[in-house]
Amino acid sequence: MAAEGTDLPKPRHVAIIMDGNGRWALGQGRPRSHGHQAGGEALKRVIEACLKRRIPYLTVYAFSSENWRRPAMEVRRLMELFLSALNREVRRLHEAGVKLRFSGDLSAFNAALRNGMLRAEHRTRNNTRLTLNVAVNYGGRAEIVAATRRIAAEVAAGRLQPDDIDEQTVARNLILGSLPEPDLFIRTGGEQRLSNFLLWQLAYTELYFCDVLWPDFGESHLDEALAAFAGRERRFGGVTARRA
Ligand code: IPE
Ligand code: IPE
Ligand code: MG
Repeated sequence: MAAEGTDLPKPRHVAIIMDGNGRWALGQGRPRSHGHQAGGEALKRVIEACLKRRIPYLTVYAFSSENWRRPAMEVRRLMELFLSALNREVRRLHEAGVKLRFSGDLSAFNAALRNGMLRAEHRTRNNTRLTLNVAVNYGGRAEIVAATRRIAAEVAAGRLQPDDIDEQTVARNLILGSLPEPDLFIRTGGEQRLSNFLLWQLAYTELYFCDVLWPDFGESHLDEALAAFAGRERRFGGVTARRA
């Protein structure tokens, strides 16, 4: 698909599991954290590409609630990378019109990282070109549990009737809130699973898996995914005009 200005169906919201950093590094005989660093560069390329293609929403999985199971050294390096990326990149993202949001349980991070995320969100809150949701310490099941608790508390306080709970009530309490649901999901690195990412929000998202390891992912791979998306027929449970 051409980069800009075509009439082909284009996703408004792309969600990505950026997977394969560790294997990329090990393939070069380097430590896994080297792959995470290169993965950060790939994310910068993809953000640029989304801005250029006028895709208004991008959600990326940077750290899952299960990734704490990794060796302490790898987790520590990841946290350092997140912090240095915040310090280095937020100004440039802000100038490019990117609105940053960090979704997940931020309370598990140290104060410097947590405050850096909150400051970045505050600084970029009025930007409108691209909303970049970064899922960190995020798990799809945990977020559904947290939403259920909040809704139950509303009911217990008498502010909400059980019969008034609908899909919007649940969706509002999840990380993407009122944003449009992802149209296109991409997972790099060859695995074909969701790994607890956006379990509710991906109900009707088009799924695209590719073998490219995330640090190698670039503009041309994004365009391949967009071209695949443009060729999909989304029916949302209905029938196409052709077959009606
Ligand atoms: C994804 O790459 C990045 C994070 C989970 C933080 P991986 O680190 O999972 O890379 P592989 O899958 O082991 O190659
Ligand atoms: C999913 O990848 C999480 C991120 C990319 C941040 P994982 O590498 O953690 O997933 P599994 O373990 O292969 O399912
Ligand atoms: Mg992985």
